[in-house]
Order: sequence, then structure tokens, then C-alpha cells
Amino acid sequence: MRLLVTGAAGFIGSHFVRLALERAPGAHVVVLDALRYSGHLSTMQDFWEQVRFYPGVVQDPTLVGHVIEVEKVTHVVNFAAESHNDRSLQDNGAFVHTNTFGVQVLLDQARRHGVEKVVQVSTDEVYGSIAEGDFTEDSPLRPNTPYAASKAGGDLLARAHHVAFRTPVVVTRGGNTYGPFQYPEKLIPFFLTRLLDGKKVPLYGDGGQVREWIHARDHAAGVWAALERGAPGEAYNVGDANERTNAEVVRVLLEETERDESFVKRIPDPRAGAHDQRYSMDCAKARRDLGWAPEVPFETALRETARWYRENEWWWRPLVEDDAYRQFVHSFYGPTLAEDL
Ligand SMILES: NC(=O)c1ccc[n+]([C@@H]2O[C@H](COP(=O)([O-])OP(=O)(O)OC[C@H]3O[C@@H](n4cnc5c(N)ncnc54)[C@H](O)[C@@H]3O)[C@@H](O)[C@H]2O)c1
Repeated sequence: MRLLVTGAAGFIGSHFVRLALERAPGAHVVVLDALRYSGHLSTMQDFWEQVRFYPGVVQDPTLVGHVIEVEKVTHVVNFAAESHNDRSLQDNGAFVHTNTFGVQVLLDQARRHGVEKVVQVSTDEVYGSIAEGDFTEDSPLRPNTPYAASKAGGDLLARAHHVAFRTPVVVTRGGNTYGPFQYPEKLIPFFLTRLLDGKKVPLYGDGGQVREWIHARDHAAGVWAALERGAPGEAYNVGDANERTNAEVVRVLLEETERDESFVKRIPDPRAGAHDQRYSMDCAKARRDLGWAPEVPFETALRETARWYRENEWWWRPLVEDDAYRQFVHSFYGPTLAEDL
């Protein structure tokens, strides 16, 4: 296998490369990443020597075609994305460029160069919010944020490419993911890094939003199973049954960092109308057709993740001290709140 993984300098893509190198030791692995604010060479440090790296954007057809051709790529997995909902509420142009247009470019180049299989990594957020029950792969896509809409665009382009051109592309729709190497803007590492620094954390609204959490390694294994066994044109939900309210997750993080409730500041929800109340997926299809099942126990692994952040300050400290990160926190939560937090 000659595998191109885009976005592997980011969180889940890096877990996927580690898994791919374990599961297919002889595989030739190529990484294409634009090193946007959430992509860092430090995240790839442990496997850097085992991959070929190309800096650049997925929406560049010349570059993507060149990489596929010179590296004789047979399989492509696309993790490259603008991945943060909150940022998409501030400015969503980059989201459409990368998450929708970028997918079109990748699919066109994969088709043109006869790639054997493509996996487009999508998200449960393309379905929107569900009060009761679970989304199946046949549920309508009703995204509620510009991020989710841009991902739905990529997801639908994958389907259309298969229908129109028989491009061998499979879609995975992953749940909310946690684990080491997640950029500190996302809920769990945002809270952990702040709590470790003795700063308060903002809980949106009553903290009652329900998320279905999956560990990055399980998510990566689901994508790997889709690469190996997914049927072209099909989508697979890749989630775990760990439904927790944000408030429940925060309680564990407080315990692990030895902080009390006074470190939690409840704030009006900055996502306003765009905050989905609950995500939940039925993952029977992936279990049945891909032979995949999540293996990482949530509560233990959440605590292990907290310990990883405590022990790996070398990785996250430069990221939270970066001006661009501070500016984002400042602009999203507002100057008063940012100081207060
Ligand atoms: N994090 C989650 O909870 C979650 C859940 C479901 C699905 N997903 C999906 O998984 C994928 C990876 O998410 P993540 O959390 O690891 O994100 P991330 O932000 O940590 O990583 C994204 C990576 O993509 C790179 N990138 C951004 N724009 C690019 C471009 N135009 N060209 C090339 N590279 C570019 C970044 O530099 C970064 O390395 C995304 O497609 C996301 O939508 C994430």
C-alpha cells in the first residue's frame, strides 16, 4: 500500500498514521499538510522518520496531482480540515475552501491518477442535532454550523463522485474525539491546559449539551477499517456509546487536575442558536460490515488523557503561548471575559 494521509500534522490524522504504521509495517506513508494553526511538526515527531512530508494545501490540484504521481499513491485518507466550529462562526471562508473545495480537488486527482481507494473523513455534525434516538447513515444531512455545512459539502461530493464517476470513495462520520495531541482550542484540551495553569474554564449555558465521545485511536481504527473493507459509495458512522453532558466531562477534568467547582465559570452560550444539543449515532453498520468496534474505555482514557496533558507540557505550552491562539481566545470570549477567565 502507498498511502497518502492529508492533515496528519493534526490531531486524529496523527493517530491514524501511528495506527497505519503498526497495522501495515511495510506501507509507504506520505503526509500532505498545510501546517495551519492546528497542524504542527511536533505532533509528528515520533513518526517523522517513517513518512514523506509535503507542505501544502489540499485545494491545490497541481500539488496534489504531483504528490499522487511521484509517490505512486494507491490509497488516500483525507483528514485535512478547518476543524473548529467556534472559528467557523467568526469566519467561514477557509472552511468552505478546505472542507468542501479541497475534497473536490482530492477526489478529482485521485480519479485522474487511478487511486484504488479514498476515505473522506467526515463528522457526525453533518446530521445536525437529535433530541432522542440515533442517526443512521441514511438520516438526512442537516448541518447547523458553517463548519458542519462545509463538511457536509465534502461528504456529499464524495457520494456524488462515486455515483457520477465510480470513484472508489468511502465516507466515515466520526463522533466527538478526544485523546493526546488535540489542539488546545477544543473543549477537553482547552479545559485541561487552563486548569493545569490554574485558570478558570468557561462552560457554555448549563453544560447540558450531550456529546458522544470516541477516543482518537478508536476513531483512527474505524477509518482504517473503512480503508480496508469499506464499500465504495458507502458512509459509515464511527462513534462510541459514551454519551456525556459537557458538565459531566468537566467534573472528571476537575478531579484529574485537582481543581474545584470554583474554577468553572458558566457563561451565556457564544454559539447562540448554532449549538447542537445532542449528537448520537447508530454505528451498527460499521460493526457489521467493517468488523470494527471501539475498544478504549471512556472514563479511564479520559483520565489518561488528562495525565498526558499534565506530562506533555512540551507539546502544548508553545501552542497556548502563541499570539494567534491568544487572539482567538480573546476574540471569541471577548476582552473582559478573556481576562476574567
Ligand atoms: N476532532 C473531532 O472531534 C472530529 C470529529 C469527527 C470528525 N472530525 C474530522 O476529522 C478530521 C481531523 O480533525 P482534527 O480534529 O484532527 O483536526 P485538526 O484541526 O487537529 O487537524 C487538521 C489538520 O489539517 C491541516 N489542514 C488544514 N487545512 C488544510 C488544507 N487546506 N490543506 C492541507 N492541510 C490542511 C491542519 O494543518 C491540521 O494539521 C477533520 O476532517 C474533522 O472534520 C473531527
